[in-house]
Amino acid sequence: MTRDPIELLKAIARHTIGHGQSNTMEYAEDVMKLPASTYYDQDLFDLELHNIFGRLPIVLGPSCEIAANGDFKTMKVGKASIIVTRDKAGKVHGFMNACRHRGVKVTDKPCGNASRFTCPFHGWSYGTDGKLLSIAAREDFGEVDKSLLGLREFPVLEKAGLIWGIVNPDTKLPIEPFLKGYDDVLASFGFDKWSFFSKRSFKGPNWKLSYDGYLEYYHVPVLHGRTFGTDTTNRGIYYTWGPHQHIKTPDLTPGHVATETLGYMTDIVDKAESEWDLETLSYGVWTVFPCTSIASFGGGGRGALISQVLPGEKVGESTTFQYYIMEKLPETEALTDEAEAQFAWVQGVVEGEDIAMANAAQDTLAGSGIDYLLLGRNELGNQNFHRWCKDVVEAETDKDLLRLYDNAEIELGVPKVATAA
Ligand code: FES
Ligand SMILES: [Fe+2]
Repeated sequence: MTRDPIELLKAIARHTIGHGQSNTMEYAEDVMKLPASTYYDQDLFDLELHNIFGRLPIVLGPSCEIAANGDFKTMKVGKASIIVTRDKAGKVHGFMNACRHRGVKVTDKPCGNASRFTCPFHGWSYGTDGKLLSIAAREDFGEVDKSLLGLREFPVLEKAGLIWGIVNPDTKLPIEPFLKGYDDVLASFGFDKWSFFSKRSFKGPNWKLSYDGYLEYYHVPVLHGRTFGTDTTNRGIYYTWGPHQHIKTPDLTPGHVATETLGYMTDIVDKAESEWDLETLSYGVWTVFPCTSIASFGGGGRGALISQVLPGEKVGESTTFQYYIMEKLPETEALTDEAEAQFAWVQGVVEGEDIAMANAAQDTLAGSGIDYLLLGRNELGNQNFHRWCKDVVEAETDKDLLRLYDNAEIELGVPKVATAA
């Protein structure tokens, strides 16, 4: 199969449109039983923090969020407080946000621009490249080797206008094999040239409960009946690169409000393939395992919402970050208002509807008397996601983990399932 991203996008569109025209679907082989405890078992969650978030690269944010040299942001992934910086030379770094003297955060600002971080406790200072620059009252402190006391750094990779990182300074794992070439397809958005518009965040329940909503369209006309409309599609076709899944709808209803977001191919269905535009080809949901989702929006100009669901410290806690990035920042006040309204609306959809529903499930599950939940044949994305989570958690060594990814083929139209249920 072709690996050329544009040809691949065209093949995906062709395939999706084909299903739309013949009113057919692709289904998982069976309904899948999912242990309800997957959402509330604290021991499993601790394993996930270690084996998923401590080993796999996650999307830390869009490049344009820290566009200028010296820009930085801080965040928490599970128990790890981190800083992501762009140093003086423009190189991106990821550090544990913990002073090497006595462990406090060297900055508690959510973001900013700095030439150095000065620890608020005793004043040690670090460069944006993580090096320890100075020890306060060094003559009194005693002999230590400054060159060994930089902020603890973990591997990051900037590609396709996104920043990936393995939040573990002890990891020996490379990032690239985990991307499965998905980054090359995402690069067709051109995010490396896009601009940062704004960012929002809100709390939610277990990270997998919050993330499940990005992986199926089944709920859309029901849960989002008042926002997207009850006539919205409830069907998605899945395309997978290992655990990373792209979803487009085969529904060919013209002019739907969710055209960009859910990937209706109606704008190109009546055109010759030579006239298919890259923007329409990119419509739909792009999930990046384990916790990121990207979707297109049109308010105020071409935009994308990057959603990131980060686990909290306990099994029932997560934070969703929504990054709004735009191909071009709006040049008029009216367009800015339109973009702002678009993004406020989508926060309302996700926080007010998806997360509200996920909270409701978190609230009942542990005491529900239900041992197994059901993922339908049409909820293929969730089936894949939960199988991958299980397989990654169970992969004992780095070698096992790499082999799991290595064995996962890119199969157009028919998602590759890592193991049997
Ligand atoms: S803990 Fe940072 S300088 Fe002491
Ligand atoms: Fe939703």
